[in-house]
Amino acid sequence: MAQKFSQRTYMHCSRERERGQFVDRGAAATLVISPRRRIGSDLSIKTTLAGDSVEYDIIRATDLKMLLRCLRPARRRVLGTDGGRGFGLNLMPCFSLEKMEGWEQARFELASSDCEPLALQELLALADDDSRERWNSLSLGYPGSTQGDEALREEIADGLYGGALRADQILGVVPSEGILLAMHAILRPGDHAVVMAPGYGSLFSIAKHALDCDVAPWTPEWSPHPNPSSANHQQVPVPTFCLERLRSLLLPNTKLVVANLPHNPTGFVPSPEAWQELIALCSERGLYLFCDEMFRHLEPTGRATLPAAAQEYDRAVSLSGLSKAYGLAGLRVGWLATRDAQVLRRCHELKDYTTICAGGCISVVGDR
Ligand SMILES: Cc1ncc(COP(=O)(O)O)c(C=O)c1O
Repeated sequence: MAQKFSQRTYMHCSRERERGQFVDRGAAATLVISPRRRIGSDLSIKTTLAGDSVEYDIIRATDLKMLLRCLRPARRRVLGTDGGRGFGLNLMPCFSLEKMEGWEQARFELASSDCEPLALQELLALADDDSRERWNSLSLGYPGSTQGDEALREEIADGLYGGALRADQILGVVPSEGILLAMHAILRPGDHAVVMAPGYGSLFSIAKHALDCDVAPWTPEWSPHPNPSSANHQQVPVPTFCLERLRSLLLPNTKLVVANLPHNPTGFVPSPEAWQELIALCSERGLYLFCDEMFRHLEPTGRATLPAAAQEYDRAVSLSGLSKAYGLAGLRVGWLATRDAQVLRRCHELKDYTTICAGGCISVVGDR
């Protein structure tokens, strides 16, 4: 679907594009972006200036992003009065991590983010008679609830969150989908978000590229620590995400802090005290806290499993799932947990545009 901008704007011409510059022609212009004409990561764009239509065959996505930044005020107007919308997924850069197919052939793979998966037979061998019967008679129609199987949500609420959350405060999602839904439920264009970095791509890029937010990376500090597995206590650099650094990144329009704990890729887990301080900081400032807890229960040796963010703070959204600690990535089972009813409702509404409901086999996993 083409998007139109028909106000005084900045023109971009091919020669200047080579030098990465934009020129203000000071005239009414219409920019038509045609995402359908996508060629690899490039887009073709067409501009019309004072009736003269110039079509550039290919523009690099990065150039287009620069151009759109110049168009920001116009864009805001085009986005309408309903609180604004970003540009959706059209302008997202390619998710490089997911393009690793073909590299996963090593005999001993040490770089993967998930552990060795279970085979279906191994999973079914864990099932009791009732679950096995349900599996054998599984109907492959749409499952009843779009919020996710109730038995599974109850199991999660009691078993993983110690009853601190109720089943209706949990929404079943595919894990990566949960990031997309929660970011869209919480953020609006122009909001400021602070995100732990480096990290899993979509934790940063959905806010930045799809929702047009200002996103600040919260980077770790590295200090030398003795390596417990080395005989001569060789020092290794260990990362710490300091609260002072986070505090210095917060702005008056900061709306969201995005954490990922245990952190992928560094394995960082804060002390229980630092975790409480982070929650207190978000609470003092009224910030949302999105915590990707996909690696919960896979803490490095000596680190405690922290209470989930959603257990501790009413404006927190926890993301978790079966892909990492449970070795069941192929099931695509995850969930969002939050006590914020509005955010949960919005995620549930938006899910109708993504997967609608979970796959049918979830109703069997739910019991075990
Ligand atoms: C930190 C983090 N969050 C979310 C995900 C998404 O999980 P899934 O691939 O199961 O959707 C991943 C996957 O690697 C991850 O590393």
